[in-house]
Amino acid sequence: MSPLFSTDPPTNALVLSEQKRQRETLTLIASENYASPAVLEAAGTVYTNKYADGVPGHRDYPGCGPCDEIEELARQRLCALFGTEYANVQPYCGSIANSAVFLATLRPGDTLLSMSVEDGGHPTHGSPENLSGRLYPAVRYGVDPASGLIDEAEIAALAKKERPKMLICGASSYPRRIDFRAFAEIAGETGALCLADIAHVAGLIAAGVYPSPGGRIPLITTTTHKTLRGPRGGAVLCDATYAEAIDAAVYPGLQGGPLMHIIAAKAVCFAEAATAEFRGYADQVLTNATVLAKTLDGEGIGLATGGTDTHLMIADLEGIGLSGEEAERALEAAGICADRCPFPGRNEDYVRTSGIRFGTPAATSRGMGDEEMRAIGHLIATVLRKSGDPTTLAAVRAEVAALVSHMQRTTCVYLASLDGRT
Ligand SMILES: Cc1ncc(COP(=O)(O)O)c(C=O)c1O
Repeated sequence: MSPLFSTDPPTNALVLSEQKRQRETLTLIASENYASPAVLEAAGTVYTNKYADGVPGHRDYPGCGPCDEIEELARQRLCALFGTEYANVQPYCGSIANSAVFLATLRPGDTLLSMSVEDGGHPTHGSPENLSGRLYPAVRYGVDPASGLIDEAEIAALAKKERPKMLICGASSYPRRIDFRAFAEIAGETGALCLADIAHVAGLIAAGVYPSPGGRIPLITTTTHKTLRGPRGGAVLCDATYAEAIDAAVYPGLQGGPLMHIIAAKAVCFAEAATAEFRGYADQVLTNATVLAKTLDGEGIGLATGGTDTHLMIADLEGIGLSGEEAERALEAAGICADRCPFPGRNEDYVRTSGIRFGTPAATSRGMGDEEMRAIGHLIATVLRKSGDPTTLAAVRAEVAALVSHMQRTTCVYLASLDGRT
């Protein structure tokens, strides 16, 4: 009997029910993944017991020897992975990592130039509802409504006109490569600081299958749990000149004690991301996304920008006559988790969207390849066309269950960590 079961059966039961949900359904949420058993093990270690405010070598508490070593290991591994001079691995999440950069480099009232949420940006890049937008007024750029692509010339013109203190690139829903070099040049020409938020594509960059902002853009933020496949968390990477200011912004600026157990799990994740196996994984993530996009396209489902060269794509629901919410609900009933999003270029908010986002990182971690992606594409099309038919949704749900159970038996170790638990 597990300690959790004997101490708290209701919580144990809910952990098992979440594991069952993850097992028996198909996750196509572009920002989710399955942490490896080694990452989960590190996240569940006794480091959770320790206070270690400060940075390695300069802590506010005694007894931080092993904390110093694990944090330094994580830090160095992260710098090596992205070719940066410095990293702070303490941010609790990607949002805090972004706030830390702002706090370290801006004053309230300084302006940001960033991608609008309606076109794929993240709220922490200056949305009015987010603290970032209250402190730092944001001028927004979007995508070209016809092509769905970022228009660097338009951003350069905006930067010249508005003279922002900081230019941000990086998105939550953009299916194409971001030209980090162009952003660095625009920032250089207009005297703006430049931040690349690589939360979504960090794993692809680490694997060398997506361009890196490292060496071009002096401030980089990331999450560690999306394509990077680590524990839930964030990090800041930067040029050495920003190191002290970033450290002070994280603690005591924004956070208290670092989550040392998560930092241990980040260290594991960064080691895993440096392997040839991970490179193969990231390659397959991209191949899978291309195959899924082509299958959807072949089914007559339009995609923002016509496809993808990342891990994600945004399907157009307008022609099908469904809202994002209706599509999300029908897919969930059929055992497929994907999240609605504004369709880029249409100025939609999250209440009424005509887009739905599909991503391949989690499915690829389960060992799925081209064949499964084709099958999934056809299943998605069936659900979207017959979303009001419970018999169809139940039939697709059975097919999804068979598909994921086959993957479970064959290759996936990522959902096995709780096996044998009662
Ligand atoms: C581009 C981008 N930046 C930052 C974040 C925030 O990360 P977190 O949810 O860890 O705060 C996200 C999350 O989805 C994101 O997509």
